[in-house]
Amino acid sequence: KNLKLIKVESPEQGAEQVYEIIKNEIESGRLNVLGLATGSTMIPVYDKWVSSNLDFSNIVTFNLDEYIGIPESSPNSYAYFMSEHLFDKKEFRKTNIPDGMAEDLVEECAAYEDLLEEYPLDIQLLGVGENGHIAFNEPGLPFDSVTHVAQLTESTLGVNSQYFENDEKIPETALSMGISSILGAKKIVLLAFGEKKRAAIEKLLEGNVTTEWPITKLVDHKDVIVITDLEI
Ligand code: GLP
Repeated sequence: KNLKLIKVESPEQGAEQVYEIIKNEIESGRLNVLGLATGSTMIPVYDKWVSSNLDFSNIVTFNLDEYIGIPESSPNSYAYFMSEHLFDKKEFRKTNIPDGMAEDLVEECAAYEDLLEEYPLDIQLLGVGENGHIAFNEPGLPFDSVTHVAQLTESTLGVNSQYFENDEKIPETALSMGISSILGAKKIVLLAFGEKKRAAIEKLLEGNVTTEWPITKLVDHKDVIVITDLEI
């Protein structure tokens, strides 16, 4: 298998592992374009980067996804999350997040996908949803998907709405890189902490590729590192 499993004791230890990988790749000149993710899983990862002296100023970043109709100024947007946890604290060459406020969303998706083609991802950081989604690629979506308008499932709306502040209603749609866009990255680093992620990680490690568990498609990629605190 091309899947490497790193077992850690805590999210903080996981963040240390990610830090070592990223540091190594930056210092060896292999990392120029970095795919980023949001969610609670990523907070210790970004905290670690922020408190380090690692230099990201030559790095171009691409985020996986963004809610539709939530402005950057709202604490519920992924753009806000990224500014708060990373972009306001570290200098990057250029940061990219799909614009969920774009007038023409289809055009926005096409433009984002074009950018990804122009700047191929060296590393993509990934979390996973409880239902096995990666970015907002929900169960049932074809594997050849590229950046698109994604329909969120009831399960995802339930899980993610807990984080919504100020009575803002969680959108039922988002812009998301597709499974094919994600698999285009040279290296993928997936993080999963806590029992709620067990089902998804077990499906991945079982190795049966099915659109019902989008995460399973990662077994077809040649360089995936899975960092988890789960005893499997
Ligand atoms: C959202 C994001 C995913 C992320 C997932 C897990 O649905 N679209 O990219 O992996 O949340 O979030 P958490 O890290 O908070 O468990």
